[in-house]
Amino acid sequence: MSEAIRILPATDAAIDEAAALLRAGQLVAFPTETVYGLGGDATDDRAVAAIFAAKGRPSFNPLISHLPDVAHARELALFTPLAEKLAAAFWPGPLTMVLKRRPDCPVSHLACAGLDTIALRVPAHPVAKRLLEAVGRPVVAPSANPSGRVSPTSAAHVAEGLAGRLALVLDGGPCAIGLESTVVDASGDRPVLLRPGGVTLEALEQVAGPVITPKSDPDAPTSPGQLASHYAPALPVRLKATEVRPGEALLAFGPALPGAAVTLNLSETGNLEEAAANLFALLRALDRPGLAGIAVMPVPEAGLGLAINDRLRRAAAPR
Ligand code: TXA
Ligand code: MG
Repeated sequence: MSEAIRILPATDAAIDEAAALLRAGQLVAFPTETVYGLGGDATDDRAVAAIFAAKGRPSFNPLISHLPDVAHARELALFTPLAEKLAAAFWPGPLTMVLKRRPDCPVSHLACAGLDTIALRVPAHPVAKRLLEAVGRPVVAPSANPSGRVSPTSAAHVAEGLAGRLALVLDGGPCAIGLESTVVDASGDRPVLLRPGGVTLEALEQVAGPVITPKSDPDAPTSPGQLASHYAPALPVRLKATEVRPGEALLAFGPALPGAAVTLNLSETGNLEEAAANLFALLRALDRPGLAGIAVMPVPEAGLGLAINDRLRRAAAPR
């Protein structure tokens, strides 16, 4: 039996109601251009704790604070020249910056997992922007899925994982990008890539010069939230498949391999943007009982392929 969940089309009235619920300490899921977020008032420790509880998330994993514009973001953190440059180039959009908290930053320390840094993002989705303006406070929002599971790119995905655990889902249709934001530490002179995502490494380097990555520097820090097993479907996932084994479902990229029990294609034409937008929805759709596993065809390590392969490796990691 599925638990009740309220899903409303994201009209002005629904957004106002969602803002009132958030201000009252309730949790609301809302669309962004990357994935749906499970939102709570970032200044309310109890709302933040409720998010961790709803997701079953390890509490050492800090959350991103969402703001309607860069001016509000500057009130929470110390902006470096690098941060200003990145904000001008990529906000609003799928970039999250980690910066030093201002001493008077009102965001819950629980949301930042006790760190003296804070992750900030200004989303581009019009519903997210209107909601954040209406709330008038920073809103923390991890992806609206139980911890470790596939991220939601539609209101129905949110309902599958979190029914009974939140007050309302604002339905703004499917997410255009379909992959989480790129997380960059911008507290120093050079950007450090903490999580690949919707903004590509190439685009970052064009704006900010060489980016420090775990590859360019094995000692570079990665996001505390980068657990090896994450985004995991129930079925085993096999990467870089060049043939299909008996009983397997196939997640194809480009012309599909023959012989699969079920085949879904990230992008028949090999388009990485289309593949990113489809990734989480297709992983969910293939995750059905009775199949031996999910074989995934190779995806090139360029552009959005970096973030796609990062998520696929986590989906395939030993649990
Ligand atoms: O696209 C997105 O970013 C979505 C939408 C809803 O905005 N949100 C999202 O949040 O993906 P979440 O909680 O699933 O991922 C947050 C990431 C984690 O990898 C976390 O470790 C990192 O941001 N992070 C947050 N605060 C940090 C900090 N102070 N230092 C380093 N990494 C941090
Ligand atoms: Mg997540």
